Amino acid sequence: MKGIILAGGSGTRMYPVSSIYSKQLTLIYDKPLIYYPLSILMLGGIKDVLIISNAETIPHYQKLFKDGSHIGMNIQYAVQAAPNGIAESFILGDSFIGNDSVTLILGDNIFYGKLDFLYNGIKNNEGATIFGYRVTDPERYGIVEFDHDGNVLSIEEKPKQPKSNYAVPGLYVYNNDVVNISKNLKPSPRGELEITDVNVEYLKKKKLKVSKIGRGVAWLDTGTPVSLLQASNFFGVIEDRQGLKVACIEEVAYNMGFITFEELEKTIANMPKSDYRNYLERINRD
Ligand code: TTP
Repeated sequence: MKGIILAGGSGTRMYPVSSIYSKQLTLIYDKPLIYYPLSILMLGGIKDVLIISNAETIPHYQKLFKDGSHIGMNIQYAVQAAPNGIAESFILGDSFIGNDSVTLILGDNIFYGKLDFLYNGIKNNEGATIFGYRVTDPERYGIVEFDHDGNVLSIEEKPKQPKSNYAVPGLYVYNNDVVNISKNLKPSPRGELEITDVNVEYLKKKKLKVSKIGRGVAWLDTGTPVSLLQASNFFGVIEDRQGLKVACIEEVAYNMGFITFEELEKTIANMPKSDYRNYLERINRD
């Protein structure tokens, strides 16, 4: 299983900061936003990750993550020339994906809680596995309609009259067919290759599974200044209370067995003196 983080976009709702850097580099409490989706892929056991963004931002991600070997990963990078839509990920990622299956996460999506939905999605996927999460503002998302038995009837992108309150979060698990499906898509009226069109294609072939995520999981979508503040407060409260960090990628790498104790020590030794380093040293001692 390969992983892709789509972390470009226009970020218009984040203006003026978006005119100088990508929102995925903004701080969520104590670390850049992109650490959260990266750690989700890592917790799903994915070691090969492609980060896609615009040409100006890629060098920043390269500075942050290098080739990923210090956290036992293979991290590669690709440029998306313009925000041409989420489904363009699979065209840009074609050679990276090869013959493999792939999990895509959007760079501004955060999940927190029991991740069984993700583990099961990755383990049991046959065609496409996407997720449904109950929201109060369904007009803003791709929305899934279910029948009484929980079968998917339709998926609509930002519907004016939503048929349910179940939004599709920015986390998608696909078999290798996704590459060809994406290559055959036509841009939507807003000029984007729509991920919803990919999902509709799988639905037509009866290869789409939508698994509901329960209320015990927090899905935070961080596209606006208010939602960034809420996410920072959320993780600030949790980290302060527990004395444990969320999405500390070096700690995740060690816990997942991507790196040994000695490799973790070496990675820590290369960090400047900081709370982040102190935390890892403390965790290491424990
Ligand atoms: P969007 O929610 O479409 O938002 P955006 O970041 O482009 O910002 P705004 O709506 O304020 O203009 O994107 C969701 C995520 O997907 C975000 O992390 C950016 C990323 N993305 C790309 O990298 N390329 C794309 O072509 C699209 C559509 C999104």
